Amino acid sequence: MSADLPGHVAIIMDGNGRWARRRMLPRLEGHRQGAKAVRRAVEFSRRAGIGVLTLYAFSTENWQRPKSEVSGLMKLLSQFIDSDLDEIHEHNIKIRTIGEVKRLPAAVVAKLDVAKAKTAHNTAMILNIALSYGGRKDILNAAVKLSRALKSGDIEEEDVTEEVLGQFLDTRDLPDPDLLIRTGGEVRISNFLLWQIAYAELYFTDVLWPDFDDDAFRDAIEAFRSRQRRFGKISEQIEEGKMTP
Ligand code: IPE
Ligand code: IPE
Ligand code: MG
Repeated sequence: MSADLPGHVAIIMDGNGRWARRRMLPRLEGHRQGAKAVRRAVEFSRRAGIGVLTLYAFSTENWQRPKSEVSGLMKLLSQFIDSDLDEIHEHNIKIRTIGEVKRLPAAVVAKLDVAKAKTAHNTAMILNIALSYGGRKDILNAAVKLSRALKSGDIEEEDVTEEVLGQFLDTRDLPDPDLLIRTGGEVRISNFLLWQIAYAELYFTDVLWPDFDDDAFRDAIEAFRSRQRRFGKISEQIEEGKMTP
């Protein structure tokens, strides 16, 4: 699996709660199984040669969930770093985050800082975790930073381009996602990467996140490969483009 592979895959990992409910288990057990699916997806991506994997782990809206669920999720994140950091590092994977990570409990922030520093120079793949992330907040923060830069004279109005605004987003050093996967059956974006998915291929599956295995991931990649990305052009231009070296 290498030709026409998406360089950047972003995943809305949804359906943990329903996975648990179907088994009469507490929601947190769904999240626990979800963490195993994270491990699988990271390993699959690395072996497949995907350059960037962005995982939506916690949204700005998720702060509204019951306190016990939020703290359970934070604990799982912390445990994930404890159990997986060494292997992630051995596999030459770089960890980074997007979102207002500072809102997370201090102990989790500290662990994330260690994980990021340790893996900062790794080159095989980027594991980008979206935590306390909201697409609108990302754009809003960028707009504020941009307006400051305009006010201070660091940037002139005529120099403001999409690329310039992009440089103020949390994803500044990452390519836009080529493929966005949402598990769990809902067909919505839920305030994920709004700016960055302008031309991503969208793939929705009913598979609940804890059940998302290598076969399910392969199905998503195959669906991506079967599509023609035209970026506003017509098929013939795309075919021509392929002919020219
Ligand atoms: C996704 O699963 C995990 C997070 C949002 C943190 P959910 O917890 O949203 O699962 P459902 O949608 O209730 O099944
Ligand atoms: C989106 O899932 C957020 C994450 C997967 C982290 P939600 O379950 O929070 O989204 P809604 O509530 O269905 O929109
Ligand atoms: Mg959900």
